[in-house]
Amino acid sequence: MTNTMWGGRFAASPAEIMEEINASIDFDKRLWRHDILASKAHVTMLAATGIVTKKDAREISKGLDQILAEMEAGKFKFSRALEDIHLNVESRLHKLIGPVAGKLHTARSRNDQVATDFKLYVRDEIAGLDAAFAALQLALVTMALEHAATVMPGFTHLQTAQPITFGHHCLAYVEMLARDRGRFADAAKRLSECPLGSAALAGTSFPIDRNMTAKALGFTKPTANSLDAVSDRDFALETLADASIAAMHLSRLAEEIVLWTSPQFGFARLSDGFSTGSSIMPQKRNPDAAELVRAKTGRIAGAFQALLMVMKGLPLAYAKDMQEDKEPVFDALDALKLGVAAMAGMVGDLEINADAMRQAAGREYATATDLADWLVQNLGIPFREAHHITGQIVAMAESKDCDLKNLKLSEIQAVEPRVTKHVFAVLDPSQSAKSRKSQGGTAPTNVRREARRWIKRLEKDGLSR
Ligand code: ARG
Repeated sequence: MTNTMWGGRFAASPAEIMEEINASIDFDKRLWRHDILASKAHVTMLAATGIVTKKDAREISKGLDQILAEMEAGKFKFSRALEDIHLNVESRLHKLIGPVAGKLHTARSRNDQVATDFKLYVRDEIAGLDAAFAALQLALVTMALEHAATVMPGFTHLQTAQPITFGHHCLAYVEMLARDRGRFADAAKRLSECPLGSAALAGTSFPIDRNMTAKALGFTKPTANSLDAVSDRDFALETLADASIAAMHLSRLAEEIVLWTSPQFGFARLSDGFSTGSSIMPQKRNPDAAELVRAKTGRIAGAFQALLMVMKGLPLAYAKDMQEDKEPVFDALDALKLGVAAMAGMVGDLEINADAMRQAAGREYATATDLADWLVQNLGIPFREAHHITGQIVAMAESKDCDLKNLKLSEIQAVEPRVTKHVFAVLDPSQSAKSRKSQGGTAPTNVRREARRWIKRLEKDGLSR
């Protein structure tokens, strides 16, 4: 029956609408494993502190194990009428072992329960992401080592700037991903306080041992303030902020793959496995996976904003608003996991066209800075003046439609008579790249050293090539 006063346009009764807006089981069923884990730790503690008898605790624990098995086998029937994962589990426990099931919820509330479950979930996701990012780093380092001396144009403003090595370019992403991993590790560190035992908001009068449950669940210690514990979602927000930055990094690499694999650049070719065809244009090889990785940044950063706005202005302590914390996290971390895996796959399979890169590095006067530096180093000309002279030489090459290295010595000398034939050595793009040996510079020797350092570090994370 719809409400007679305002229900004209509703097909469902108020109770049904209430159930629909109130229930979280459709998404929070994902927390089943963590929910059971936390309940088992809780009941073990209740027995150890004499709050429930050992016999009751054993029965409850056995029942929880059975529920776990049912869930693992995909046989558990989730019910929306039971609202969320916590009540679904408790209700099933009651069916399995009778009234003793009611003792499990002693000295706890769904408020500390959900905070605990969700922290456990996010902690596991961070561990998985760290491994996935390390795998992408390894793919990039492997590519860097192989292409330590492959010269390509380096860009600023997407205009050819100076010759660089492709290996150096790959290692730039390895550094970004290292910061991403560092940020996730920091989030995991701050996440390591256990909310369980904060109960609804005020703690409990039962003589619980919070250190025991914290330790059993792999946290370093219990949270210090019960109000904070049940109303805090910083751990989810921080992880989403970190995920947003990481996704932004992936989007930049994705964009470069889109550019490099375009016929206009022709620097690289995606494997068949990571290309798609067009339904109308037979010649097309589209970088769909890279484009989707690039796009997923939107939903990941959006998830961060969504949760930030859910939390904004909430008075202490728990409010039902906070049930809206899970979907953005699930969606964003799923998207990031998929994105990073797709990226590792694409990088691993990417065929590099070193010739095309080398040729492009020789065009667009990429070695103009080297020419200016040569004038400074060999003729003692101040850099600003050298820059001006080089500009005139570039203009001449442009008017003759040739590269700097194809100019005649006499032509260069018409601009600056003191230039000698030795200048041609620095006009070659690979010489240019080789000369940039300053710390952090693009020279192949640097790239090899850095790539080896990274391989050692990744081996410590348990990865090998
Ligand atoms: N399903 C709820 C959530 O996700 C669990 C906590 C409910 N607590 C409450 N007092 N209604 O936040």
